[in-house]
Amino acid sequence: MAHHQRIRVLYDEVVIARRIDEIAGQIAQSDVKDLLVVAVLKGSFMFAADLIRAMHKAGMSPQVEFVHLSSYRAATVSSGQVEILRDVQSEVSGRDVLLVDDILESGRTLAFAKDLLAARGARRVLSAVLLEKPGKRAVSIKADYVGFTCPDYFVVGYGMDVAHSFRQLPYVGVIETDDQPGFDGV
Ligand code: IMP
Ligand code: MG
Repeated sequence: MAHHQRIRVLYDEVVIARRIDEIAGQIAQSDVKDLLVVAVLKGSFMFAADLIRAMHKAGMSPQVEFVHLSSYRAATVSSGQVEILRDVQSEVSGRDVLLVDDILESGRTLAFAKDLLAARGARRVLSAVLLEKPGKRAVSIKADYVGFTCPDYFVVGYGMDVAHSFRQLPYVGVIETDDQPGFDGV
């Protein structure tokens, strides 16, 4: 284990903010009505907060809800099981819902959340993910809005963690060890 972990930045604050404004603009121009945003905790909290503010700037007035799902359990390999740790509290029946998640990898988390809200009678369940890793899908699912297609690294920051650390970083990056070139000291 390296004494000084460095993070190589993949998507910086400026790039993320610009992309989020584009996505919010697209959502604002779509035909969604009376939108309920459901952020999937914990990893999406930063993306969701920025996306919701960008939606406001784009003239929208979404309501906001949270569901806390877990599939990782402090490991970097998915267990394949999705658990509800905290459920949504609003009625979703008849609503247009936008699920917001940090990263689409196997697709199990998003598929589970989509099925859950659809089973409760949501009129439409759309999804926005900050990142997608192609070639990792175990479940056939596509997000309606994707921030960036990400190389197949384990990424941290901007809400995403490894063993509960690094969520606070305002950018998305990859952890590097001492013998590899680092770009941004932490
Ligand atoms: P999926 O269910 O396999 O699509 O995984 C989605 C969830 O796994 C995400 O919401 C993240 O919480 C977590 N995850 C997947 N890849 C990464 C990564 O590279 N860094 C941090 N978390 C990840
Ligand atoms: Mg997550």
